[in-house]
Amino acid sequence: MASPSISLSFLFICVLFLGKGVHQLEASHHIFARYQTSPKIFHKSLINQAYRTGYHFQPPKNWINDPNGPMVYKGIYHFFYQYNPKGAVWGNIVWGHSTSTDLVNWTPHKPAIFPSQQADIKGCWSGSATILPGGKPMMLYTGVDSQLRQVQNLAMPKNLSDPYLTEWIKYRKNPVMAPTPKNKINASAFRDPTTAWLGPDKMWRVLVGSRVNKLGLAILYKSKDFEHWTLAEKPLHSAEATGIWECPDFFPVKIDGNKGLDTSARGKKVKYVLKNSLDETKHDYYTIGTYDAVKDEYFPDKGMIEGDSGLRYDYGKFYASKTFFDSEKQRRVLWGWANESSNVKDDVQKGWAGVQAIPRNVWLDKSGKQLLQWPIKEIEKLRGNQVKWPSKILEGGSKLEVTGVTAGQADIEVGFEVSHELEKVEVLKEKWYNPQLLCSKKSASVRGGLGPFGFLTFASNTLSEYTAIFFRIYKHHKKHKVLMCSDQSRSSLNKYNDNTTYGVFVDLDPAREQLSLKSLIDRSIVESFSGGGKAVITSRVYPTQAIDNQIKLFVFNNGTSSVKITYLNAWSMKKAQIS
Ligand SMILES: *[C@@H]1O[C@H](CO)[C@@H](O)[C@H](O)[C@H]1NC(C)=O
Ligand SMILES: *[C@@H]1O[C@H](CO)[C@@H](O)[C@H](O)[C@H]1NC(C)=O
Ligand SMILES: *[C@@H]1O[C@H](CO)[C@@H](O)[C@H](O)[C@H]1NC(C)=O
Ligand SMILES: *[C@@H]1O[C@H](CO)[C@@H](O)[C@H](O)[C@H]1NC(C)=O
Ligand SMILES: *[C@@H]1O[C@H](CO)[C@@H](O)[C@H](O)[C@H]1NC(C)=O
Repeated sequence: MASPSISLSFLFICVLFLGKGVHQLEASHHIFARYQTSPKIFHKSLINQAYRTGYHFQPPKNWINDPNGPMVYKGIYHFFYQYNPKGAVWGNIVWGHSTSTDLVNWTPHKPAIFPSQQADIKGCWSGSATILPGGKPMMLYTGVDSQLRQVQNLAMPKNLSDPYLTEWIKYRKNPVMAPTPKNKINASAFRDPTTAWLGPDKMWRVLVGSRVNKLGLAILYKSKDFEHWTLAEKPLHSAEATGIWECPDFFPVKIDGNKGLDTSARGKKVKYVLKNSLDETKHDYYTIGTYDAVKDEYFPDKGMIEGDSGLRYDYGKFYASKTFFDSEKQRRVLWGWANESSNVKDDVQKGWAGVQAIPRNVWLDKSGKQLLQWPIKEIEKLRGNQVKWPSKILEGGSKLEVTGVTAGQADIEVGFEVSHELEKVEVLKEKWYNPQLLCSKKSASVRGGLGPFGFLTFASNTLSEYTAIFFRIYKHHKKHKVLMCSDQSRSSLNKYNDNTTYGVFVDLDPAREQLSLKSLIDRSIVESFSGGGKAVITSRVYPTQAIDNQIKLFVFNNGTSSVKITYLNAWSMKKAQIS
């Protein structure tokens, strides 16, 4: 193997103009060559920028995208990520690496995996960790080879006594999976291997995302020894009209309780989750189902919807996610990339792009029909000043400021009771069945019967800017429908941002239960959880007036009926040690 310094500089020259002269095989992402910034121009003020997050994971500078190979090894959490060491746009991709003891504070290390072989010389793309019996981690990742084919490679730690695993070596005979004329795999659509799992026949199995025309595929490979992999007769699963499946993730969940399971776990009380990231819409959708480990087939449960209108981890900016089993705490933890919503010029100017959402615990809801997600408990360590309200009525058309916390870097939780006002709800019309469209039609400024009520985050003094996260209640076939929205239409006076409003119907019954809403607010991101984790929306926002200590936070009710706040807790959030 070449030394890192030689390989890295070689990589930069090689990859900078990837995309030129590519005919049959296309790289799936653009390279903005003319925007490539050089390390020299980064200013010292980088960390003091208004939009730079205080407790979300990001490296000191530059572009990041997919989470890679998360795992825990000898009590140390490892996080790898797609990283451009040369600029704030996609390109020159290597695996950045950081470690942590609490998933909150991080120590950066040098890149773990970078182009150095024929099989990855044009890029080291996403992949996953598998811990072999006995504890040795193995990393499967996508390499872009010298002919620009996507292939799957194997890497392993050099020194297993080093808990930080700073040195990685590659299998000499990479690639371990490749497209051939015989297997007819599309060499431009073959990427992002999952964590592998062991079947009853003691063979390893792994999925790789792909497509045939519009058919999305989770291609299955099997291996006895983790080095020699053979293509299975058929994919584990596929779905029409979904396009390429990126970053597939396949894992078991317990039907009872929130404990996580090792990826190889099986049993009667176990269901399976298959998640795919849809390149065409940039959404992570999942289904819940059963897995036949003998036939090697996955069957989504009745009623599960494949594709963009199916269940999603997050109905906002959240993509290319990946879970891992945290054997230290017996939980399954989800990482996901929260892309910027600003334009490329602004990204280059601020010198960085992309953050990771706060890691989330995921488990099966007791209905069995969806997952629940909640920020990992450890994040509560950062809670500072607390504000607590007694129960109070919030009249229609009113708002209350939440003072006493740093509104731009906060954690806020509230419970709403509306059962006394349910006769005021509007009827849901058929043309409003698409929740995202409904949220953008009925923004926070459109008064309804019951709702909108929720938070105004990143609000400026005069409300010239705010990001509203709220509920609206509708009646539909004698039942109630709870709509959750994150409205970006007023987030920023800067018109060059993606201001798409997000929305989802949450499976809650306002006649019988409180509606809970929690937001993690962090300078240019707000992650909002409703119904105890039944629905999540992440938004990226860049206010021009509501910045730093000018940011305000409100609870608002712009409906015509009153709502009761049953509790409100808010905390200032301290800065985490990240870069
Ligand atoms: C392996 O890591 C251990 C623990 O950090 C260290 O003491 C040892 O010197 C390392 N071995 C080599 C060959 O680098
Ligand atoms: C192969 O993959 C590329 C990239 O996703 C796509 O443009 C092309 O249409 C695919 N070919 C087929 C036959 O699916
Ligand atoms: C990232 O954000 C930019 C700007 O909003 C958008 O053009 C792009 O499609 C996004 N990509 C993903 C993967 O979300
Ligand atoms: C509440 O509704 C009124 C009337 O539509 C509107 O002027 C005001 O901006 C709304 N408030 C918020 C916070 O959107
Ligand atoms: C949202 O973005 C679009 C496209 O850039 C722009 O035309 C529109 O004015 C923006 N809407 C608001 C409310 O800022």
